[in-house]
Amino acid sequence: MPTRRELLKAGIYCSTALLYLTGPKMDTWALKDGGKNSDGGGGSPKVTPFQVALPVPTVKTPVPLASLPGAPVFNDGHPTDYYSSTERVALQQVLPGQKTLVWTYDGTYPGPSYAPRLNRRIVVRQTNHLSTNTVVHQHGGHTQAASDGSAFPDEEIPVGAFRDYIYDNDSDVGAFLWYHDHTLDFTGHNVFMGLAGLFIVGSDSIDALNLPSGAFDIPFVFQDRTFDANNQLVYNPFDHDGFIGDTFLVNGAVQPKLRVGNRKYRFRTLNGSNARFYEISLSSGRPFQIIGSDGGLLRTPFESTSYRLAPAERVEIVVDFSFYAPGPNTHVFLNNTMIQTGGRGPEGVDPTQPFPLLRFDVLDSVTDNSTVPAVLETGLPTFNPAESVITREFEFVRSQGAWQVNNRFFDPNRIDATVKLNTTEIWRLKNGGGGWFHPIHIHRNEFFILDRNGFAPIGAEAGLKDVFVLNPGDEVNVITKYTGTKQLGKYVFHCHNIEHEDMRMMGRFDVVL
Ligand code: C2O
Ligand code: CU
Repeated sequence: MPTRRELLKAGIYCSTALLYLTGPKMDTWALKDGGKNSDGGGGSPKVTPFQVALPVPTVKTPVPLASLPGAPVFNDGHPTDYYSSTERVALQQVLPGQKTLVWTYDGTYPGPSYAPRLNRRIVVRQTNHLSTNTVVHQHGGHTQAASDGSAFPDEEIPVGAFRDYIYDNDSDVGAFLWYHDHTLDFTGHNVFMGLAGLFIVGSDSIDALNLPSGAFDIPFVFQDRTFDANNQLVYNPFDHDGFIGDTFLVNGAVQPKLRVGNRKYRFRTLNGSNARFYEISLSSGRPFQIIGSDGGLLRTPFESTSYRLAPAERVEIVVDFSFYAPGPNTHVFLNNTMIQTGGRGPEGVDPTQPFPLLRFDVLDSVTDNSTVPAVLETGLPTFNPAESVITREFEFVRSQGAWQVNNRFFDPNRIDATVKLNTTEIWRLKNGGGGWFHPIHIHRNEFFILDRNGFAPIGAEAGLKDVFVLNPGDEVNVITKYTGTKQLGKYVFHCHNIEHEDMRMMGRFDVVL
């Protein structure tokens, strides 16, 4: 029996072809340009930027337990909130004219946000009304194996069925996380179609910091897409280098605008793209405060005029618009200066060619009582290298025309590392060459980077991480402690260039007693 990946390699791609045939609007699906999309050179309908207001995903509200027959009930004294979500197709106004068919959680792309509290458990019932089996992964969570959505075929939600995901939210600190599809071999396509949303874990200690909050705390999901002449998404399943689109979206809108006041805002930025990197800056050249990384707030903020976001990475910033005089002509642009035309990875930052992802319209005169304290997160864990029981080496390499870890393709039935509960481990991750960039993501635990090519991590990389880039030639040591007696069983680590992941640049690790 050939695997789905082998079918992919053979150029058959039967399941998805079938899915196109059975899905609605199949007549609008077509491969274009052989998938060779590039900045400005692609064929998506051209859109006048800054016409639509930035959409902000709605925050889910709990449902009564009684509305979810068969849902798990807990008697351990910890409260649980229950949620219900349906995976389904929807037509969404993304471009002017014809609506775009998207795959959604609950009818919107991106999906609704979850905003649980640290150490308060939630259960999410995901019902699959799509035309193919799916898996839901909560990226960055300290999640029990059965709820992790780690790409294992036995974790798929069959069409028409549901799965109850338990999220204990028992990491050390609150954090800006996300959730997205993780179906083995098809994650790239499914995320591209829209299956992604935010998962923001709040905590009392973060609330007490008096950072900009409420309407002044706004998430940005950066994604690139390509559309056909009928405004439909175009994904080339035969491009295994990594999808690069020609149209830039924030929260599902093409180059939107955001009305702001002359005060501080907290922006939570996620690179939700399959393979595109971003270099983010303000058109004014003014610095902003970087306050958070993947796994939570930094211990101390720092000032910067730009930062890089690899696929799946998050950086939280505070931008102060009080430096600009409010008025109808006061515009500040959030720019991307990373030039990238192919899935291989960054081709360079060119500050002379800024591409505006979003326009801030500084219109309102408002007061601002928020602050960015000198010390942010005091609850970050510490991991002691002297306590590490093993240093494991994983090399991410292109070979056999595809993508491997230590010269092997992912096999859900092969354990690549067995980790003992409550031990500390160092993982040495290496780029296997060829000029490729690989953003590496490890499930289950946030970690710290010990060193990147022998140098201590700088900037947001010094914070708690769950994904980081292996640039060509890089060797990066990361450290974490595998705590959590509930979190036993099988997990994965992989390249988060999702097309590489789908070609099985992924490994399995099991956490055991
Ligand atoms: Cu964001 Cu294993 O994925
Ligand atoms: Cu990769």
